[in-house]
Amino acid sequence: MELVIFDLDGVIVSTDKYHYEAWKSLADEHSLLFSHEINSMLRGVSRAECLKIILDVNGRVVSSVDSSKMLLKKNTIYQDKLHALSKNDILPGFLKLLNDLKVNNIPVAIGSSSRNTPLILKKIGLDRSFDTVVDGNCIDNSKPHPEVFLKCAEQLGKNPLKCVVYEDAIAGVDAGIAAGMMVIGVGTEKLTGVHKMVKTLENESYEIINNLYKEVFEV
Ligand code: G6P
Ligand code: MG
Repeated sequence: MELVIFDLDGVIVSTDKYHYEAWKSLADEHSLLFSHEINSMLRGVSRAECLKIILDVNGRVVSSVDSSKMLLKKNTIYQDKLHALSKNDILPGFLKLLNDLKVNNIPVAIGSSSRNTPLILKKIGLDRSFDTVVDGNCIDNSKPHPEVFLKCAEQLGKNPLKCVVYEDAIAGVDAGIAAGMMVIGVGTEKLTGVHKMVKTLENESYEIINNLYKEVFEV
């Protein structure tokens, strides 16, 4: 095992509530139905794809000009909410795991669909903590396409088959599997296809990840 890649939203920090509130506010303004169920379909998916999903569910078609305006509005509302983020929003267990990986000389990366990744990392004080950050600003294809994770491996000169991904969203799990990586699911949502599921990162360590990696890939 040579590289650990973390998704950001839902793995390192919980921004789900802010995404929900921003989409809800946009949906209300345009008389579109939006629920927690629809919100859960948006995890790990790019902003533009999210809007398409919401419009599809509502059977609504909009021009590309209106779509751009809606995306801008959603992001303005979302970024306003992000200003409240701080180190206290880092999810339990992450900092301990990060430190353990560093002590064991394992490089760490971010593989996120979010274009707000640099802003979020700065707000939570982790903008200098990763060996590479690949986010929504650097990719052409959103998860479940494997591009984001393959780029992390490529940038650090690692074999994708020797990488481990932490993900909370089905689109991200599918991306990690498509990249040929070992995938650990985080959270309480059922994630099909993961090599292991954990509720939080609290009990994770280099040794646990490496032992699982050996079991899965080195039989
Ligand atoms: C993450 C979230 C998604 C979000 C995407 C794009 O993957 O889980 O719900 O749509 O990032 O976020 P952005 O910050 O670029 O709007
Ligand atoms: Mg996520």
